Amino acid sequence: MSPRLPLVPWPAAVEQGEGRVGVSAVHVVSPDPLRWTLLAAELLSPLGVTVAGGGDLEVGEWTVVELVLRDDEPGARPEPEAYTLEVRPDGVTVVAARPVGLLHGLRTFAQLVTRELTAPAVVVHDAPRYPWRGLTLDVVRHWFGPDVLRRVVDLAGAYKLRVLHLHLTDDQGWRLEIPSRPALTAVSGGTQVGGPVAEGTRGFLTAEEFRDLQEYAAARFVEIVPEIDLPGHTNAACHALGELRPDGQPVPAYGGIEVGFSRLWIDNPATAPFVRDVLGDVAAMTLGPHVHVGGDEALSLDAPEYAALVGLALDAVRAAGKTPVAWQEAAPAAGSGTLLQFWDPRADAAPFLRAAAAGARFVMSPASRAYCDMKYDAAHPIGLDWMGYVELRDAYDWDPETAVPGLPADAVEGVAAALWTETVETPDHLFSMLLPRLPALAEVAWTAAGGRGWEGFRDRVAAHPRAWDAQGWAWHPTPQVAWARP
Ligand code: ACM
Repeated sequence: MSPRLPLVPWPAAVEQGEGRVGVSAVHVVSPDPLRWTLLAAELLSPLGVTVAGGGDLEVGEWTVVELVLRDDEPGARPEPEAYTLEVRPDGVTVVAARPVGLLHGLRTFAQLVTRELTAPAVVVHDAPRYPWRGLTLDVVRHWFGPDVLRRVVDLAGAYKLRVLHLHLTDDQGWRLEIPSRPALTAVSGGTQVGGPVAEGTRGFLTAEEFRDLQEYAAARFVEIVPEIDLPGHTNAACHALGELRPDGQPVPAYGGIEVGFSRLWIDNPATAPFVRDVLGDVAAMTLGPHVHVGGDEALSLDAPEYAALVGLALDAVRAAGKTPVAWQEAAPAAGSGTLLQFWDPRADAAPFLRAAAAGARFVMSPASRAYCDMKYDAAHPIGLDWMGYVELRDAYDWDPETAVPGLPADAVEGVAAALWTETVETPDHLFSMLLPRLPALAEVAWTAAGGRGWEGFRDRVAAHPRAWDAQGWAWHPTPQVAWARP
């Protein structure tokens, strides 16, 4: 390993070379110059690099950054996200079989750019450990609109994540316009923890905003996975649509932070059409292959009714042509082709092992490691502590394959950080809960267990605040790292 290079996530193979290249001005040569010059500029301009592309090479001190799509590259690697990055004193080359690999290579290159606008000679061969490298973000408890969400996509992308899972519905609000049930956002779109959303904000994504956000993310190879949380966490739905209640009467809006009290009823004739129509609409509005149906903390339901309601939701997603994702509680209803998101390590593992045997796969978000809404330590002003504190090392020092005792390693699809926003009120709160823990979790998801270690990560991440500051992302200066500050 070469811990002096500040790369996070640490690549599969790194060979350091001799010398450096100046990168104060780079000219991007690529198969699609407009697109790739813009993406390179997004990553490099905030660091002070001048980026140009397309047309003839300009006269002057331009370093060529060449992006090459080659089906037979890199080498024998079958991984779809693989890339090779070569930095030489005379230029930079990224080779990949797919465009996503080119962007990963550019992201790695951006992390090598020093304050002096040089980069060390190096050859990186890289590919991820897991395909699902995600961030779950609650935009219900506190609302964060499209501008903030695009910045979150940028942050996720910078650490090579592929999934931004948006928790869009809960007791406190409903954040996505649903064509078949406009009352959901008309009535419950503007409420959050503590009362109404900030003045001047709508409180939900219109169908058009949702599409625009997905397209922005897709251009950076990030899939937006929408979550409609059923059958618990449904107070906002029952506030907007009284028909979902046995007595037909809407419930009051809820601005607190308790969980587990709200629910749907399987024998209510309005329930199945609601679940099918809403999930059908969401599937039709979703560009990616996954729709998350929640399923967590339906504490007021008995097991048979819970299984019937979750089964209804899973079937509705499959009928709409998408792959369902659900929280771990849905394990008894999950079969082959379902993704389960593990979050609560206090739970009995037996249902997870049975679900895995039936063909379900797992995204690992154990709250003790991956919940970025837990306080860093007792003194931290933001966050909760029901799972204890999650310091940076806690977020880093674990292996997804042993997170659920007895689960076969090949049932692990990946890792997702999660940020619930009961106490997260502003973009600065949001970014400072993710930074530096998100990069730690991104490395857990990307780098093979034997290829990484806490001391190396701690030393490498210390150089990253320069990029965070350049992007305007707030971060928490945990004392576990000797931060390299200006
Ligand atoms: C969860 O934290 N209720 C998924």
